[in-house]
Order: sequence, then structure tokens, then C-alpha cells
Amino acid sequence: MTARIIDGNALAAQVRGEIAQRAQALSAQGETPCLAVLLVGEDPASAVYVRNKVAACEKAGIRSLRFDYARDVDPAEVMRKLAELNADASVHGILVQLPLPPQFDEAAVLEAISIHKDVDGFHAENVGRLSQNREAFIPCTPHGVMKMLESVDAPVQGAEAVVIGRSNIVGKPMAMLLTNAGATVTVTHSKTRDLAAHTRRADILVVAIGRPRFIGADMIKPGAIVIDVGMNRVPDGPDAGKLCGDVDYASASEVAGAITPVPGGVGPMTITMLLENTVISAQRALARREARS
Ligand code: GUN
Repeated sequence: MTARIIDGNALAAQVRGEIAQRAQALSAQGETPCLAVLLVGEDPASAVYVRNKVAACEKAGIRSLRFDYARDVDPAEVMRKLAELNADASVHGILVQLPLPPQFDEAAVLEAISIHKDVDGFHAENVGRLSQNREAFIPCTPHGVMKMLESVDAPVQGAEAVVIGRSNIVGKPMAMLLTNAGATVTVTHSKTRDLAAHTRRADILVVAIGRPRFIGADMIKPGAIVIDVGMNRVPDGPDAGKLCGDVDYASASEVAGAITPVPGGVGPMTITMLLENTVISAQRALARREARS
């Protein structure tokens, strides 16, 4: 069997077109969506992510504000900026790029962001709301994965879903979203004993373990939907240095029913969902403004 490719670039382009229309309509009503992005330090991967987020905003007609801080900045300075952005009615989304340098208390920073502007969905209150299946900002990567599953009409309800990875950014919210959608979810991670015994049961396998080409065909149930959240460099061999996922795409695509490539899979959907969350936040701000007048 050769797997159906779930094309993240094509899906992202379609969704971003819809987002741009919504952004334009909001602008016409005096509520131009605006995202503020804060980057601390010079981590090259973070710098690329932030650059891509800002560029994607511009393309979608979303205003962006970018604040860069030196690696050794006093956290109080960043906290002051967050308070200022929380109070600024023209700002709808606030994102602090992670990871932060060691002098920061990451949880305290995330909780200093207004829950109404927490477009990453990392604030403890939004995490709690998601766990209770109430309206919340949903973290962008797992939200993008759900959109990808929807795009192939994946039967999530009743499915065996296995998530590899237990991070706050991907694994845990992914498990929550799949649970809310009616899947039977197993969360596994780098310490799981006999990982393959779990993955081979999965109708839906979401892989976010951060190891290049770690999941091979022998770990995949024939016909499964495989979503690869990994973003690694091939360490050696003929493809050394190239981008690759956590799944060995060449062998896995012979067994899976559908699969996301890397690059061109989950990556473009992550930023797309950030844009969507920012537009949703602006729509809510407009509704509040209209309710007051
Ligand atoms: N670092 C890695 N992924 C993310 C993300 O989705 N949001 C933020 N703020 N930082 C990240």
C-alpha cells in the first residue's frame, strides 16, 4: 500500500486564504487583527520561527509587533511589556517564543499573558478549559493536526489514537483534543516500555518525540494515519543535514494509509493556527466593542 499524502502546504494555503478574508473584514470594521511576538535571546531555531510567524501575519493582513530582548534581559522588563500589551486594546494576540533563558520562570511568564490574548493557548487557565472541553485558545500545533485529520475525514471517534510525546506544547494538548473528539488515547514517550506494542495498535499515530526517522514501518499498523510533528536534521548518510521528521517516511509510507511529510506537513499548519487564533481573538474583541456601544 502507498499512503495518501496529507499535504500541509496545500491545506495551510487554503485555510490562510480564509483567514486573510476574515482579517480584511475585521480591518474594514476598524479591528485590524494584531499579534505581538516577544523573542528573548539569539537561539537560531527560535529566530527562524519568529521570523516565519511575523512574515505569515503580514501575508494574511494581520498586523504584527515584534519585541527582541538580549539573552540576559531582566525578566521584569519582559513582564512590564506584557502588562503594557495586555492593556493595549489594539493588540489581540501575545506570544512569547519558548524556550526562555534560565533566569525566567516560564510558567509565570505564560500566566502573565491575558487569557483573552493567549493565542498560543499555554496559559494554565486555557489549558484547564481545554481539558474540560470548554471554549479556549487551542495550542497551534495540535490544533493544526486536528485540522489535518479533518481534511482526510479521519474517523477519530472510537479510534485508537497513540501520541508519542508528553510536552505541554504538543503531546498533552494533542491527547486532550483527541480525547475530546472521542478517540481512545494512549500517551507514550521516550521512557515508555515496548513503545512498538503501543504504536502497532494505533489507528491514528501522532509522533512528537524529537528523534530523526525514529518510527519505522515495523511500528505502524497497516492503514494507520501517521502524523509526524518532528523537525530534525538527518544526522548522517547520503541525506545528512536535510530536514526530516520523527518518522522514517520512505518505509512508513509503504504501510500507512495516510501520512504527513516533513517538510510540508504539520509545520505550515502550526503557523496557520496561530493566525486563526489571532483572528478569532480580534473577532471577540470586536464583539465586545459592539456590545458596549
Ligand atoms: N517553541 C516551540 N514551539 C512553540 C510554540 O508553538 N509557541 C511558542 N511560543 N514557542 C514555541
